[in-house]
Amino acid sequence: MLKTKDLGYWYDNPKNSLFENVNLEFEAGQSYAIVGQSGSGKTTFLSLIAGLDKPKSGSIEFEGKDIGQIGLTNYRKKDVSIIFQSYNLFTYMSPLNNLLTAMAITESSHTGDKAFAADMLRKLGLTDEQMKQNVQQLSGGQQQRVAIARTMVCDARLVVADEPTGNLDEDNTAEVIELFQQIAHEQHKCVVIVTHESTVANACDNAYRLEKHEFSVI
Ligand SMILES: Nc1ncnc2c1ncn2[C@@H]1O[C@H](COP(=O)(O)OP(=O)(O)OP(=O)(O)O)[C@@H](O)[C@H]1O
Ligand SMILES: [Mg+2]
Repeated sequence: MLKTKDLGYWYDNPKNSLFENVNLEFEAGQSYAIVGQSGSGKTTFLSLIAGLDKPKSGSIEFEGKDIGQIGLTNYRKKDVSIIFQSYNLFTYMSPLNNLLTAMAITESSHTGDKAFAADMLRKLGLTDEQMKQNVQQLSGGQQQRVAIARTMVCDARLVVADEPTGNLDEDNTAEVIELFQQIAHEQHKCVVIVTHESTVANACDNAYRLEKHEFSVI
């Protein structure tokens, strides 16, 4: 589904590249963890495959097409869903309206289907009352589940997450990992998770370590 071709990136000076000549493949129906020391370039890599920034060298293909050719705005809207450590929900809206808004913006095949959105939130453990409250009244774990539900009601087939369990306790982390596995295996999407936690990396179907400017399978 996603392929990096001789991908390279640096911020200021080409001599200080974070990584070069990265050739990796990510498939639908699979989950991938990316681990590595702080500052190694994990978030940078994620922002490239999410179309938030452009490669300095090489290219990225989504379903056989260069994402530059798809158009990064179009790619981010239709093909990729991003989950952050800090949830990034519309804080002045309810969980239900967060999902409905995301479905409308991304022109999801379920746009306008309130029952579908409510059902997803219910499946992820929110009560009917909670899904109508402001999201800021929810706990961290509940807010992250809303962010994950948002990914699940949208059609984007690539799901990228940057330390999605960084703010969660053990129980919530286990639940969130389970949801990512469902997204990969039941929705047949491709899930790429940057994490510091070995429990998360171990639970994924595949894992890479970014170290000394190179990705290796672990
Ligand atoms: N906008 C920027 N301009 C210049 N340098 C940057 C910028 N963003 C990140 N960097 C540098 O690039 C390197 C990689 O950063 P990145 O955020 O990708 O690391 P990371 O592996 O995600 O780290 P962490 O585990 O701490 O989140 C770091 O040395 C960082 O200081
Ligand atoms: Mg990071």
